[in-house]
Amino acid sequence: MVESEVVFRVKRYRPESGGRPTFQEYTIPYRSDMVVLDGLNYIKDHVDPTLTFRWSCRMGICGSCGADVNGQPRLTCGTYIRDVHKGAVTVEPLSNFPILKDLVVDFDDFLNKLASVTPYIVRKDWGDLTKEYVQYPEDVEAYRQQSLCINCMLCYAACPVFGSSPEFVGPAASALALRYNRDTRDQGADARLARLNTKTGIWECTFVGECSVVCPKDVDPAAAIQTLKFLATMRHMRRLLMPGASSR
Ligand code: FES
Repeated sequence: MVESEVVFRVKRYRPESGGRPTFQEYTIPYRSDMVVLDGLNYIKDHVDPTLTFRWSCRMGICGSCGADVNGQPRLTCGTYIRDVHKGAVTVEPLSNFPILKDLVVDFDDFLNKLASVTPYIVRKDWGDLTKEYVQYPEDVEAYRQQSLCINCMLCYAACPVFGSSPEFVGPAASALALRYNRDTRDQGADARLARLNTKTGIWECTFVGECSVVCPKDVDPAAAIQTLKFLATMRHMRRLLMPGASSR
């Protein structure tokens, strides 16, 4: 039998009402090629314009449409309803973040953590800017996997360590730190490792690995953090044995 309707259970929270989050049910038309974001947009456009959620690209690039779908952090634009719905599609804001309204959560804390690892190329001296800083294919390959991160925050929603210790710098910021530490044009590796080699840094990670399970881009932040632990240890040993040496 071809289904023609699907039930969405969406968590609603309106801070101005002062109440607690509650679920609201919507029964909407269903097609087998619908993703969860299509359902949310149908509700917004045809049923309830007050429903609030983020999205932009609709193609897994901007990272803004993340939500917990049937209990797991997912990009709603990349999740087919047919793959997740068993009776109903339950959509909630990403876990471990303060809710601003309905499915919209507050990412400010993440943005501060991201800034703390300088997620860009750092150079002491840019030298002659008319000249190319050549990247060979093998140079790019060294950080290609981490560079795929779209800052969607699914890894933070899945991470039990971040859930219990919100000061933890977390998976995406760490993966992006590794991305720039592996860039041959960068000179900021030592400062990034110093920041990550702290009580709120990589050592909080207990290698649960859920971050890598939910990552829609196969960035594998859990592996990136273990690599950073090795690099931070090497940096520490080098500084002990060769004071004044840099980490690169
Ligand atoms: Fe951009 Fe989903 S809408 S990643």
